[in-house]
Amino acid sequence: MTIATAGFTRDDTHGLTCNGVPLESIIARVGTPAYIYSAPLVREAWRRLERAFAPVPHALHYALKANSTLALLRLLRAEGACADANSGGEIEVALRAGFGPGQIVFTGVGKSESELRRAIALGVHAINAESPGEIDRIDAYAREAGTRARVAVRVNPDIDAGTHTHISTGRRHDKFGVPIELAPALYRDIARRPALAPVGVHVHVGSQITDLAPLRGAAEAVVALAKALLADGLAIEHVDLGGGLGIPYDDTPVVTVEQYAAALLPIVRPSGLSLLLEPGRAVVGAAAVLAARVVDLKAFPGGRPFAVLDAGMTDLLRPALYGAYHRIEAVRPRPGRRQRYEVVGPLCESSDVVGRDRELPPLEVGDLVAILDAGAYGSAMSFTYNRRPLAAEVLVDEDGWRVIRRRSTVDDLLALEADEE
Ligand code: LLP
Repeated sequence: MTIATAGFTRDDTHGLTCNGVPLESIIARVGTPAYIYSAPLVREAWRRLERAFAPVPHALHYALKANSTLALLRLLRAEGACADANSGGEIEVALRAGFGPGQIVFTGVGKSESELRRAIALGVHAINAESPGEIDRIDAYAREAGTRARVAVRVNPDIDAGTHTHISTGRRHDKFGVPIELAPALYRDIARRPALAPVGVHVHVGSQITDLAPLRGAAEAVVALAKALLADGLAIEHVDLGGGLGIPYDDTPVVTVEQYAAALLPIVRPSGLSLLLEPGRAVVGAAAVLAARVVDLKAFPGGRPFAVLDAGMTDLLRPALYGAYHRIEAVRPRPGRRQRYEVVGPLCESSDVVGRDRELPPLEVGDLVAILDAGAYGSAMSFTYNRRPLAAEVLVDEDGWRVIRRRSTVDDLLALEADEE
């Protein structure tokens, strides 16, 4: 069965819908706050990336950090995705979702001994190493395990990705990677160690990148390094250009997937190397809304009214942490004059803002709103401050919808604690 309307659309009868299913009908069953994902939108985003990079040998390793809810991982695995894990936990979740070790790359700025030993024992596709010290540790653990670890060095090319400073990772003063000019010597050292196989070169300069120049610059630097290593006789198989492609959260134009591919392909193709990418946000970002309910309205004399939601920074941290913008819409807009609201969450923090100075239809307590483009770094970054439960998550597919994570309970929150008189 194919559905008439993939994604989030609205009509006068049903208000906002996901793949044609009214959000109101889902929320009537699961409550708020709830993440509501469109499976067709995830598949569409994935297939668009796959098509764009089809001209070169490639593997797309979905970045689990963006969202690793099992049902979404299984959906992506069914599409042929590989995985980028950033912790031992993400490796285990990837395995649980059915990814094989050979489909996993392991990235991360501070990998612990047990995480490295596990990745080595599994034989992951590549460990993206962050430092000479980490290379020494991988070497030692691989020797102990009597195996050969596949490694790539994550290089820091000193490129400003032009994104929010908290999510820029390729500048010299950021903590990530090995300064690129030190990489050739490090690779020569790796090549002398029998327990290490230097198979790739890795870079990731930031996230929510909306301009091609830094992506192109990073690709050129990494491909040049990989070619030099090949010329030195190293058996480099791939360049891994990380993730980072932005999505349009507002009206600011962003680079499209096709433009991204058109920029990278001519750089990578002549090298004959295979291309790995680690997209996260571009896959799931636009595929979900966070549905919330207005729980209070108040206005101070002369001030803009506050619309207090039952979802806040514990559910979607991005606005509080990065000043990030997410569109907010009434699920069923009321007639009447639009007004400007401070849309805030219920937590005892003034940083708990969802959207400042937002023009919305008149709101009343009990109304439902949808916070858009919440699929990436939404649920994945949620937490339980103020003993708040984790939101429910719902996946809407062509054959209906289902809960893929139930809302947590107070018992769930207390499950790890010693509960004694
Ligand atoms: N690969 C590596 C090594 C990464 O560090 C990241 C993201 C990705 C891939 C995926 O990047 P993407 O394609 O999603 O941009 N919490 C922030 C974003 C942090 C990104 C961290 N690294 C946010 O909500 O904007």
